[in-house]
Amino acid sequence: MSSSSYSREREPAANQLLDYAKKHQSDDGSATNTAGNPLIYKDAMETVGPKGLALLEDWNFIDEMAHFDRERIPERVVHAKGAGAFGYFEVTHDITAYTAAVPFAAIGKKTPIAVRFSQVTLEMGSSDTVRDPRGFAVKFYTEDGIWDLVGNNTPIFFIRDPILFPSFIHILKRNPVTHLRDADMFWDFFSLRPETTHQLMVLFSDRGIPSNFRHMHGYGSNTFSFVNAYGHQFYCKFHYKTDQGISNLDPNKATQIAGTDPDYFLRDLYNNIAKGNYPSWTLYVQVMTPEEASHYKFDPFDVTKVWYHADFPLIPVGKIVLNKNPSNYFAEVEQLAFNPAHLIPGIGPSPDRNLQGRLFAYGDTHRYRLGPNYQQLPVNSAYRVKSFSRDGPQTIDSQGGAPIYHPNSFGGPDSDQRAKAISHTTAVSGNTGWYDLGGEDNFTQARALYVRVLDEGGRSRLINNIAGNLKDANETIQARTVRNFAQVDEDFESLIASALESSFRARMQ
Ligand code: HEM
Repeated sequence: MSSSSYSREREPAANQLLDYAKKHQSDDGSATNTAGNPLIYKDAMETVGPKGLALLEDWNFIDEMAHFDRERIPERVVHAKGAGAFGYFEVTHDITAYTAAVPFAAIGKKTPIAVRFSQVTLEMGSSDTVRDPRGFAVKFYTEDGIWDLVGNNTPIFFIRDPILFPSFIHILKRNPVTHLRDADMFWDFFSLRPETTHQLMVLFSDRGIPSNFRHMHGYGSNTFSFVNAYGHQFYCKFHYKTDQGISNLDPNKATQIAGTDPDYFLRDLYNNIAKGNYPSWTLYVQVMTPEEASHYKFDPFDVTKVWYHADFPLIPVGKIVLNKNPSNYFAEVEQLAFNPAHLIPGIGPSPDRNLQGRLFAYGDTHRYRLGPNYQQLPVNSAYRVKSFSRDGPQTIDSQGGAPIYHPNSFGGPDSDQRAKAISHTTAVSGNTGWYDLGGEDNFTQARALYVRVLDEGGRSRLINNIAGNLKDANETIQARTVRNFAQVDEDFESLIASALESSFRARMQ
């Protein structure tokens, strides 16, 4: 049988090495060590005789082995598993009435971007098709430096107060003794913090398992501020809607794929981009004036709530297009460092308490995970940096002879007046203290989701998905959780209770 009998169409991801070899046919094939010194022999270490001991002078062995021993860096504490790609953002509609931020300066303007999609909960090796929110983070390389829009595929989030974030993540991860995921800790926390109800319902709805990264929406979720060229301020939310259309996975199919192709989402993204089937999203904003914010029926800075589109319609802005795969995963995706505090003139934070906590957390993880000079890594670096930060581990650019103190008499750099003119302000008053916002309206929007947004099939799948998971928690926690759902809708409560009852009876048979 000739070898061609075995040939079949291979996906682009499978051909990566063949493609590389073709492209580099005429390269000099000789290997070097990390100092670029040619290697004498690559298939054996240097020893005293064929059965003899190793030599300390075999620097090439030491060089490679010592580097290998340090190959792994800590994975992200959340969102560890993910895929990245590059492309551009193009303005299609004028929003300069709301913001003077440079990427929106003119219709047709293109800004280079990097995107990373991710699973939230489990480790880097986990399966792509688990029920989990998905991260959708966009890095804009602008003339005013890096702007990171670090979003998810859901418009809301589980908790308002960032002090709860470490606990919230702990309950999603592993029990400290069994090292297993634990239904008691999961449902205990959720039932004790009812502000999680709305997002929990999104998680257990069909959208909890998208078909792949291309067929899901993205949302900045938190509330940000916009400032226009006249210094007028607004509040805004970002939405990026998939042009491929929303599509979700049936949970049974997802379970099957988890066992056969745990990297299903990564493969899908890489192959589609490699084949020229570039995914795109339409970026929209919702905009609110400070006056409207002061009397909106919901707290506009509460990330567990949406702004109803009927009250604040989606305003189209532009296209996000991904047309390039990374040329190296570790360098360009594992080392990508997003931070909601990376904001540019014309876009600022807001009194959204959840966002306030995020502004600290990301830079802190990057300094731990990638080192204090993480922003000098090529994939994270801005076009122009004129700061007073210097030196430290792995410095690439220490800004030559520029002054290292401020103020100085040697040409600055100094404050940027344009940035000042379009920066946000927040009027605040009150006494310092610890204000638990957990008791705010947690159910009106959850009820609207159940009654108005989901159809009958969606409601029934939501109930089965919740019951199928909640069945593993202990009875006290189950009862408390079901009582919480009663505040969404009595029908919802009784249907979950009866789904739990049937699953209990099925297990007893
Ligand atoms: C109090 C709330 C939150 C805290 C404290 C927090 C903290 C963190 C931390 C520490 C990381 C790891 C960063 C890294 O090592 O690279 C992370 C990643 C991430 N977070 Fe959050 N987060 C919060 C809420 C949110 C929300 C509301 C969203 C979406 C709107 C979000 C989206 C993401 C995404 C997409 C990533 C992964 C970024 C990447 O691909 O590298 N997070 N978060």
